[in-house]
Amino acid sequence: MSDLSFQRCINPACRATVDLADTSFRCPKCGGLLDVAYDWDRLPVPKSLKHFETKWANRSDPLDFSGVWRFRELFPFAPDAKVMTIGEGQTLCQRADTVASYVGMNPGTVYLEYEGMNPSGSFKDNGMTAAFTHARMTGATRAACASTGNTSASLAIYCAAGGGSPPMRAVIFIGSGKISYGKLSQALEHGALTVQIAGDFDDALRQVQDVSRQLGIYLVNSVNPFRLEGQKTIMFRILEALRWRVPDWIVVPGGNLGNVSSFGKAFTELKDLGLIDRAPRLAVVNAAGADTFYQLYDRHGLRWNAGEFDKAKYDAYMHAMDAANRRADTLASAIEINRPVNLPKALRALERCGGVVREASDQEMLDAKAKIGAGGLGCEPASAASVAGLLKLVKEGVIAKSDTVACVLTGHVLKDPDATVAYHTADPAVFEAKLGKRGVKRAMFANRAVQVPNQLSEIVKAIELYA
Ligand code: F0G
Repeated sequence: MSDLSFQRCINPACRATVDLADTSFRCPKCGGLLDVAYDWDRLPVPKSLKHFETKWANRSDPLDFSGVWRFRELFPFAPDAKVMTIGEGQTLCQRADTVASYVGMNPGTVYLEYEGMNPSGSFKDNGMTAAFTHARMTGATRAACASTGNTSASLAIYCAAGGGSPPMRAVIFIGSGKISYGKLSQALEHGALTVQIAGDFDDALRQVQDVSRQLGIYLVNSVNPFRLEGQKTIMFRILEALRWRVPDWIVVPGGNLGNVSSFGKAFTELKDLGLIDRAPRLAVVNAAGADTFYQLYDRHGLRWNAGEFDKAKYDAYMHAMDAANRRADTLASAIEINRPVNLPKALRALERCGGVVREASDQEMLDAKAKIGAGGLGCEPASAASVAGLLKLVKEGVIAKSDTVACVLTGHVLKDPDATVAYHTADPAVFEAKLGKRGVKRAMFANRAVQVPNQLSEIVKAIELYA
């Protein structure tokens, strides 16, 4: 592999470099997280972001067609011939005045970056195409992940669609009873070996890292820095949709904190390369039932501190969490994570971009989700954390009514239909079983089905009354 790209420890005191082909995804010297790094001085970098518009005319080249790979000059680790793409990243960044009005912002200020349009229905495909390409470059034949559902769905699809000889085999680890049916159905349908362990995501992630090391299986969780290279393109597409204008804020749900880490890296690189003159600020929104990052950053003041972050504070928090056997617990199962693996990178991203962290309750996420849906874009509960967080930040005055904001909607509404149906149901027992017993009190924006007798005149009457 070329020496123009390599892996490098994020710890400024270490900065150890690792060969591009290495798949251990941990610094061999200090155990820290790795970045993919580039020798930009020896690489062809576009002079302006407008350069990428030249790709739009070329839909017959799969790399230019892909909403990820058309930006490949900004993550140049793979030769074109090795790229594995299934047309990911054909997403929409839509102006959302319904949401702007809900959160109290001016019309024309709020945009929703709808990642549900990806082949597997979530943002994960942005990163999976990059990791999968790297896996192929290293000769891997098996790939594994622990997942709350979307990473596994994405991996399963890439393995099934990827071809190759031998084809890549997907091994996925999920926690028991922790995955929504939309996502589980994808893993099963696309032929992944599905290992359901008696534990939650945090347990599964620990296990999959050990198992992958022991069996030499390629790991595609977001501790894999190649995943994060692909996810940078979510930001590039937002800039593209805004005709290369930098928004004031990006708001994103936080789970394992891969997205925020990747977004921070994207903007830092664009700025260093002279392609933007300022970075937007980043807001991360945790679920209140899985709020480690919110607690550590906002409540306990943990900061990146140029790499010298207070590890003792972090360890003490985790220790207390374990001692109290506090487990992540939220209806937003995608972000039901208490040990975010990318936490140091996320701290770095917030330092570089000037970030904030908030938390949103299940009630707040479900209400925001219904408002997003009413505006035409269906998302899963975790995705709605972005809008629920935006509402808080506007109320607090942190985000101004006139700021330009892009909220990332990470996954499609069909990922978790149970949550949606339970919110809109006319049957109190269905509401109670799924939502009420977990602390959701009301469905303020429910669109309830109208019950009518099987009789034409009654049906007509009901329609005249309600429509
Ligand atoms: N939104 C959705 C829909 C997700 O599936 C995830 C993560 C996140 C947000 C959080 O993103 O980890 O970058 O902060 N899902 C992972 C999975 C953990 O296994 O599918 P993050």
